Amino acid sequence: MSTFPNGFLWGAATAAHQIEGGNTNSDSWVLEYTPGTIFQEPSGDACDHYRLFRDDIRLLKELGLNAYRLSIEWARVEPADGFISDAALRHYYDVLELCHDCALTPIVTLHHFTSPRWLMKQGGWGGSETPARFADYARAVMEALGAQIPYVCTINEANINTILAQLGFGLYMDEAPATTAAPVGIGEGLAEARSAVSAWWEACAREMNTTPDQLKPANFSTPADVEPPLMAAHVQARQAIKAVRPETQVGITLALHDWQVLPGGEEQAARLKHDAFEKWLPTLADDDFLGVQNYTRQRIGPEGVLPDEEGVELTQMGYEFYPEALEGMIRQAAVAGLPMIVTENGVSTEDDSRRVAFIDRAVTGVERCLADGLDVRGYLYWSALDNFEWALGYRPKFGLIAVDRATQQRWVKPSAHHLGQICLHNGPFE
Ligand code: BGC
Repeated sequence: MSTFPNGFLWGAATAAHQIEGGNTNSDSWVLEYTPGTIFQEPSGDACDHYRLFRDDIRLLKELGLNAYRLSIEWARVEPADGFISDAALRHYYDVLELCHDCALTPIVTLHHFTSPRWLMKQGGWGGSETPARFADYARAVMEALGAQIPYVCTINEANINTILAQLGFGLYMDEAPATTAAPVGIGEGLAEARSAVSAWWEACAREMNTTPDQLKPANFSTPADVEPPLMAAHVQARQAIKAVRPETQVGITLALHDWQVLPGGEEQAARLKHDAFEKWLPTLADDDFLGVQNYTRQRIGPEGVLPDEEGVELTQMGYEFYPEALEGMIRQAAVAGLPMIVTENGVSTEDDSRRVAFIDRAVTGVERCLADGLDVRGYLYWSALDNFEWALGYRPKFGLIAVDRATQQRWVKPSAHHLGQICLHNGPFE
């Protein structure tokens, strides 16, 4: 008998900006196309999913999956401040209707890193009005599409700036990272790194009618500036969603490591974990679920985060291939006291057999958590398609489905069938 409960959500996840293409009205588009950009390449047409969503959703159904996490793009729904586009809402209505027709439960993210350009003029995620504006957008989406939306993730990885700063990747963090494993360039030479990109940042600010100091995208900002507004935005959006449709399940998603403490590392680990996770708990107390997202572990000693052990297998992202991290993370995230949905977990590799192994080992970890009574409601692999991996461009391959971006042809990888089989073998489903 399967450990997985009836109704367990098995699926794949995507984000609008990373697959739809042509998201020209977003802050990210400006960051990508402004000369001097730190992006390896711009998103361009991405996977042209805005046009090809029918084919992609049908592929997921044919695999045997029963859930699909997707995001709605604020920059499309509200292209100008205060103007809600019926055409964009109709598009997402068609997307959601097709999910239901295909028996894929949609899990809808309202904000996955990208924001409309106009928001940057108002202080971006540091702006005092931003939480209310986000709640207005959430309300508009729910009024138009709420009947089709059983689950909402308000904000994706609302803690991403802290996570990046702890890794040494944050360009605009307050202090040097608490790690000895900071990637060369940014963690070690914060001032130099900032000045190297300052011309680009200034040009982006000009393009979005703001100043460099006031340019605060959701995922490129100092945690202290944007996390309080992100928390307020989550709470206000949850209230707006519930007011329109009380039965919709609402949560946020957080990027969470499996924090592994080595002797003497207790204090450092407690600080890293508090800053990246525990400080969010009061904000989430009234949520229906917590979306947990994990990619690897972090080993912490007395001096902070330790470098990878010699010889470990690395993913294309440069971090350790360690699928057991999902189990370790879930056990730590359980302290939130909320049902958990694994809204992202995956591996970036050209070798699809490593993806099959990763999924098997990660899912086995989820099974062990369920056997111990932890409340896990779903597993959504990141990602459905090979897609735009932000500043790294299209090189990292996370997808279950490969995309030839010249022809926009899709190839279903063996790992996709493998996940589909896991889903089919762990039914029956509602
Ligand atoms: C994000 C995705 C990203 C993935 C892989 C998560 O941080 O939500 O947008 O593509 O990790 O790096």
